[in-house]
Amino acid sequence: MSVRPATLAELDLLAALDHRTFGAHAYPRVFFRQAYDLWGRWLLVACDDEASSRPVLGSLVGAPALTAGDAWILSLAVDAPARGRGVGARLLAHALGLFASDGVRRALLTVAPDNAAALALYERAGFVVAARDDDAFGPGETRLRMVRALA
Ligand SMILES: CC(C)(COP(=O)(O)OP(=O)(O)OC[C@H]1O[C@@H](n2cnc3c(N)ncnc32)[C@H](O)[C@@H]1OP(=O)(O)O)[C@@H](O)C(=O)NCCC(=O)NCCS
Repeated sequence: MSVRPATLAELDLLAALDHRTFGAHAYPRVFFRQAYDLWGRWLLVACDDEASSRPVLGSLVGAPALTAGDAWILSLAVDAPARGRGVGARLLAHALGLFASDGVRRALLTVAPDNAAALALYERAGFVVAARDDDAFGPGETRLRMVRALA
């Protein structure tokens, strides 16, 4: 498996993966083009280098914050058949390494409080819950804000 920036040709695959993963909460295709244009180095895919079909196993969208030294992980998705094999952890570690080499000092993300798999992944990667934002994504859609300091 390799983790690298997405290519223009892979944006349809990323949008389809996001739709399979997040359903009504998925980002539209146009968002992936905007993310590619704005933050291309931080728009990551995890690929099965051996596979001829469905080579994209997962994706991560990183974005700079306006607050100096901060960056966001806006999205992390691993295709259901590929879960539990370290793909999410690899994507996250790669993003944190890129952030650090690009001068980021603090990574931020939000997660639903009942998303046990994602919470465990983030805690294992050194993120801690910093705040709770009720109704963040609409009525009753609470998000926990998590942060991790980078060396
Ligand atoms: C959350 C998600 C990205 C995890 O990706 P993954 O590739 O399956 O995770 P990994 O195999 O790299 O697991 C890394 C760690 O995460 C935690 N984890 C992953 N899946 C878990 C599960 N089902 N239950 C509990 N902990 C889990 C564990 O701590 C695990 O480490 P371990 O295997 O040494 O115990 C994936 O399940 C996913 O895409 N879910 C749907 C989308 C989503 O919720 N995205 C996050 C939005 S904030």
